[in-house]
Amino acid sequence: MYKLLKRDGKAKRGELHTVHGVIQTPVFMNVGTAAAIKGAVSTMDLQEIGTQVELSNTYHLHVRPGDEVVKKMGGLHKFMVWDKPILTDSGGFQVFSLAGLRKIKEEGVYFHSHVDGRKIFMGPEESMKIQSNLASTIAMAFDECPSSVAERSYVQASVERTTRWLARCKAKMDWLNEQPDTLNPHQMLFGINQGAIFDDIRVEHAKEIASLGLDGYAVGGLAVGESHEEMYHILDVTVPHLPVDKPTYLMGVGTPANILEAVDRGVDFFDCVYPSRNGRHGHVYTNQGKLNLFNAKYELDSHPIEEGCQCPACRHYSRAYIRHLLKAKEMLGMRLCVLHNLYFYNHLMEEIRDAIDAGEYQSFKKAKLDGFQAADK
Ligand code: GUN
Ligand code: ZN
Repeated sequence: MYKLLKRDGKAKRGELHTVHGVIQTPVFMNVGTAAAIKGAVSTMDLQEIGTQVELSNTYHLHVRPGDEVVKKMGGLHKFMVWDKPILTDSGGFQVFSLAGLRKIKEEGVYFHSHVDGRKIFMGPEESMKIQSNLASTIAMAFDECPSSVAERSYVQASVERTTRWLARCKAKMDWLNEQPDTLNPHQMLFGINQGAIFDDIRVEHAKEIASLGLDGYAVGGLAVGESHEEMYHILDVTVPHLPVDKPTYLMGVGTPANILEAVDRGVDFFDCVYPSRNGRHGHVYTNQGKLNLFNAKYELDSHPIEEGCQCPACRHYSRAYIRHLLKAKEMLGMRLCVLHNLYFYNHLMEEIRDAIDAGEYQSFKKAKLDGFQAADK
């Protein structure tokens, strides 16, 4: 159940109540695709850096170790030792971005595993069944994310199929939640809006899925090659047609600046690989922009990554030491950078929530963006 606590302009401050606890929104979900946060970060670490929601992937866990294995181990929460909310993406997007040869049919998608090449079929019912076996808190609908350069006629037909798939997802999830052996009978289902960069297709699709009474609504198919301005424009025209009394999730986005702009347009759930991926490359976020710790100017720098940051890296270690670890290819270097970056994103969301609560979102956003401007492009 979602409670809209306050609005500041279009920005939403809310709470999503789940069987695994309450999520304060706006929230950034920390990505652990294969039930692991890359960079040797454990779920104990997530507790320490203020993570509210962990995100994993249907496709990856189906391929390895197999969702039946996870179910036999008591579900994803027990398997990875995390008792707070977990959102699983449906597999749709990963099939399109990872799998090699694939064939899209009305019933679903035929493709080859990126691990061992074996043939796999996944449709709406299969995706729901896998997510039910994983027993995540929130399941995502099985969708197609058309290429950002796809022609209008292709996008139109694809979105219509995604709508038919959504009805099948809902029917299957309702049925699964009633089975006596289900691990999470309260599993939620979020629908996904598509339509590439065509305003009218986006709006029509948003209206259609909004009428289904789902637990939340995502905007998918963005940050796939279009400009930031195009993405903000799509949010401007689409989000007003999604229910304000349900969570609004912008999938796979983005930079701190993207998040600040999307919150301003009514989005309150986010996920992105940037903090973990950049951390693994020694790129760390600060309120003055991103730093590359490989840079020679940090060789004798005794400051933490960011002065005043309460993350495990900044509370103990200097830029010079972390730079040394990175250059020596010690795993600890990556780990400290990823911990800092995830903490930075989680903390940014906390500041965003405080600013909305105080009714000061506009001035807060401007001050943050001015600070980032140096390097956050
Ligand atoms: N992750 C980022 N974009 C998308 C999308 O369009 N669909 C799904 N299922 N996951 C995503
Ligand atoms: Zn830090």
